[in-house]
Amino acid sequence: MSYKPVFKITTQTIKYLGKIEASKEIVEDLNIPLPLEEAFRKDAFAKMTHYSTKIEGNRLTLKQTKELIAGKDVIAREIDKREVMNYYDCLEWIYKASRSQEKPISEKDIKQMHAMIQKGILQGKLRGEYREAQNAIYDSRTRKPVYFPPQAKDVAPLMKSFAKWLNTKSDLHPVFKAGIAHYQFAVIHPFMDGNGRTARALATLILYRSGYDLKKFYSLEEYYAEDLKGYYRALQRCHGLHYYDKPNPDMTGMDRLFHQGCHGHLRRSQREGIGSCKATSSQKEPQGNAAFANNWPKGKKAIVLF
Ligand SMILES: Nc1ncnc2c1ncn2[C@@H]1O[C@H](COP(=O)(O)OP(=O)(O)OP(=O)(O)O)[C@@H](O)[C@H]1O
Ligand SMILES: [Mg+2]
Repeated sequence: MSYKPVFKITTQTIKYLGKIEASKEIVEDLNIPLPLEEAFRKDAFAKMTHYSTKIEGNRLTLKQTKELIAGKDVIAREIDKREVMNYYDCLEWIYKASRSQEKPISEKDIKQMHAMIQKGILQGKLRGEYREAQNAIYDSRTRKPVYFPPQAKDVAPLMKSFAKWLNTKSDLHPVFKAGIAHYQFAVIHPFMDGNGRTARALATLILYRSGYDLKKFYSLEEYYAEDLKGYYRALQRCHGLHYYDKPNPDMTGMDRLFHQGCHGHLRRSQREGIGSCKATSSQKEPQGNAAFANNWPKGKKAIVLF
């Protein structure tokens, strides 16, 4: 049986989706020279890596993260360096995997992402395999449990129906779908550890696969990390302390987190993208891309819109 998420489409949802669509069109219309576009992507991947691992407690700074990705050594704990490189490698894998938009997202893909994220960290069956024991989410401040996910015996069937839903063709907006997937994955918490990072990576894969990569300029992870309390609150608001208290809760309201995040970051990407284009076009030698210079008025028009 396929998972059936329960939610209502509110006026606010429609408003956000409209804004996201408008931003998407503008970002896609920008004629950015390929080297610059690649530099933006790398920068966004570094931020996604930094903020997603920072949520987990990684101590590397954004600067150190960028240096490490660039192949330089940084003085830091081995585990922190490992986590950063693992997440970055997973993003590169997603980038390649999203080229074929028709391919389904299988449980094998999800396990593979987890195995990449936990490479050299979790050992044996804990890495890339569903858990065989109960886990819990704790409040890092009070140390009290905030959520008990389903029992280990229920993980495989829940993941099977989740994967079926992921690959069922529907009219659901991809941003909505990515948000629901992130939430439901966190609710099942199928691995012993590394669920948050895998959930965020999965949402990225869904967005990229459905054409919402937006030139890969934005980092939703940054948005979550900026308001970590809000991120946790949004994830906690629909279900109870135990999974079985409310196995399939109405998630209306929780989705705002993703819409706001996507929209906010798209606007930022737009501004940064357009700003960088402008800076490049005003240089005496604008990276030698005549096509870009010719197309600049399109970008200028975009500035007026926002
Ligand atoms: N109340 C909650 N219900 C469901 N999921 C939650 C809740 N609170 C937090 N989460 C999710 O669980 C993640 C933590 O789970 P876990 O420790 O397995 O993941 P991680 O990748 O190791 O850590 P992190 O997500 O902190 O990087 C959070 O990042 C968040 O995505
Ligand atoms: Mg953890």
